[in-house]
Order: sequence, then C-alpha cells, then structure tokens
Amino acid sequence: MKTPRVTVPSLRNQKARGEKIAMLTAYDATFARLLDEAGVDILLVGDSGGMVSAGYENTLPVTMEEMLFWCRAVARGAKRAQIVGDMPFMSYQVSIEQGLTNAGRLMKEGGCHAVKLEGGAIHAELVQRLVSCGIPVMGHIGLLPQSVHQQGGFKVQGREVGGNKRLLEDALALQAAGAYAIVIEGVPAPIATEISAALTVPTIGIGAGPGCDGQVLVINDLLGMDEAFQPKFVRRFETLAGKIRSAVGDYVTEVRNGTFPNADESFGLTSSAAPALALAEATPYASATKK
Ligand code: KIV
Repeated sequence: MKTPRVTVPSLRNQKARGEKIAMLTAYDATFARLLDEAGVDILLVGDSGGMVSAGYENTLPVTMEEMLFWCRAVARGAKRAQIVGDMPFMSYQVSIEQGLTNAGRLMKEGGCHAVKLEGGAIHAELVQRLVSCGIPVMGHIGLLPQSVHQQGGFKVQGREVGGNKRLLEDALALQAAGAYAIVIEGVPAPIATEISAALTVPTIGIGAGPGCDGQVLVINDLLGMDEAFQPKFVRRFETLAGKIRSAVGDYVTEVRNGTFPNADESFGLTSSAAPALALAEATPYASATKK
C-alpha cells in the first residue's frame, strides 16, 4: 500500500491536535530515505547544503542548479515526508516574476511539494502570488542566513526593544499572505512561543525554544558530523564524525596491509570460466603484458 504523504492540510491538523512536527534537512537520496523511514514529517532541502555539502562559507553562493540537483535526489529518496525546497539567495528578491519562475522550477524540476523563502512582510506579495498558483510557501523569520552580512553574523534576533513586535508582524503578514508554515530561527524562546500561539499556521523552530509547533535541525548537526561546530541550540543525537573517521581509518589500514579484501570478499572462478582464462593467456595481449 502507498504511504500517505504529509501535506499542507495534514500539517495544519497536526498543529490543531497539538502534535509536534519533526523537520530535518536532507540533501541526497540515501539520507532522504533513512530520515523518511524514521518518521520525519518534513524534509527541507535547505540552502544550508551550500555549507554542509558544498563547503561554502555561507549560503549566499548556492545556485538554483545546485538546489535542483539536491531536491531531485531527496524527492527520489522519500515516500512519506513533505519535501520543501529552499529558494536560494537572489532567486526571488529581484522581482515577483523571478520568484514565481524559480519556485515553479523547484516544484516542476526538483519534485518539491512546497518552497521556503527567507523574510517577512517584505515578501507578502510574492507569497500571495505563489500560493495563488498552487505553490505552498513556508516562511522564515528571525535569523536569516541569507542576510548574514545585513544582520552582522549568525546572531539571535528580536532581543532588542520592540523586536518581538516586528517579528510578530512579519509572521502575521506571511500567514495573511497564505504561507502554510513559518520557520522561526534564532529567536528568544518566549518570543517564538508568543508568535506560535498567535498563529493558526504551524511554526517550526530552530534555536527558538520548545514553544514552536515543530522543530528543525540541519541533519549534519544532529548527527555530529563536525565536532568544531556546537552552537547552543543544537543537540547532537550522535557523534558520527569520530565513528566515520575511525571506520575509514580501519579501511585504510586493511587496504595497506592487504587484509581487505579477504577470500570471502573476492570472486572465485567457475570451472566453465577456466578455459576462457586459458584462452586469454594465449592472446598477444596476455603475452605482451607478461614480458
Ligand atoms: O537552509 C536551512 O537548512 C534552513 C534551516 C536551518 C531552517 O533554512
């Protein structure tokens, strides 16, 4: 039987039932399959892939082509989770038409079920147009990685006087424009809780405390793939970096000392293959290589 897909209405119902939403990033088919099998509701093909997968310093260099490549891979791997494609930097800020075109590409070519874009009220018109075309939009407020230079680094937002009012206004503007969910990143927990209570659409927090309707983490952070990266809001559910290094170190040792592969890991000859080998021995190439 086909697994029912997580959808915009099913996520809204999850919030109504008070059932938390689990979202994680994914960038390839193998991880998408594993996270999907583990019960993750939403797979975000985040432009964070630019940092953890492509090795960029921040998300600004990520292109539409890179996003499409990662989205297609994730779409092939997941059966149940909703797949959300991130709109990369400057793929929607230039004009409404540009935003419509690129969001359409993530859906048509990337196999996404929704798109995510960073920013609040400023993008209300674009959100409205996308939704009217049948493209579900997830908003993203608070710490905006694509505005890293504007915000002066990856810094908690909304701490200043009136910060909560501005964030709430952005969230309400996105909801009024038709956004079906909103990521709240790097915001003090009480503010994120207040915003979540004020909205009918689910909020998904990252560094925004437990009061959001769901949580998202970058999969590499959850798995501890980079020991040097340990921000306050990340919980490492595993520390794979050391385990991967150790397993690969064992492989290198065994290749070097000749213990990998062993006889069980090698193919033998069938008796019918033996004459063919004997024939090969007689070819000019075989004799030439023997010299
Ligand atoms: O790109 C990303 O992974 C994100 C999440 C951190 C929300 O936007």
